[in-house]
Amino acid sequence: MNDPFDVERTALTWRSKEEHFGVRLGDRLVAHAGLVPVPVSVDGTRMQVVGIGGVIVAPDLRGHGLARLAVTSAVEQARSMGPEFGLLFCWPDRVPVYQRLGWQTLDVDVHVEQPGESVAVMPLRSMWLPLREGAQWPPGPVRLLSLPM
Ligand SMILES: CC(C)(COP(=O)(O)OP(=O)(O)OC[C@H]1O[C@@H](n2cnc3c(N)ncnc32)[C@H](O)[C@@H]1OP(=O)(O)O)[C@@H](O)C(=O)NCCC(=O)NCCS
Repeated sequence: MNDPFDVERTALTWRSKEEHFGVRLGDRLVAHAGLVPVPVSVDGTRMQVVGIGGVIVAPDLRGHGLARLAVTSAVEQARSMGPEFGLLFCWPDRVPVYQRLGWQTLDVDVHVEQPGESVAVMPLRSMWLPLREGAQWPPGPVRLLSLPM
């Protein structure tokens, strides 16, 4: 599997995650979700969010709630970290998976940093999750002050 996350066609450079949540079946790692805190600017105001990425389930075990398990574990950890929001990027056909887990689509272009101080518009859909009850993503242009995760 050369491109398990299906991101090569974005032609973007991605950053690695700092914490990893796996589901193990016997000796086998069958599902994973990663997280990394990232700075973001919304309407010119800087804040920290918890980026979630690297979500993947072994092909033969999809459809059994393993992504839910891995993402829920990562989100539980994210809730203890301080930022008000989780943020992730995914292809449109995967949006329903995260909607089932409570994530909402962010309907503005998100600019992300790339090597050499260049900036790109994220071609994937952006989704956010409140990490505190009642938190609402603020309106305005969004720029990730980091490589995307
Ligand atoms: C996307 C992926 C992680 C989903 O893993 P999974 O283990 O099959 O997902 P789950 O079984 O935990 O499903 C989670 C929820 O999404 C729903 N769901 C799963 N696939 C769906 C689909 N294609 N369309 C709509 N809903 C879907 C499930 O019904 C479930 O909701 P429920 O618990 O309320 O019933 C898996 O297909 C995968 O690894 N794909 C390749 C890598 C990838 O695309 N990663 C995501 C990058 S953003």
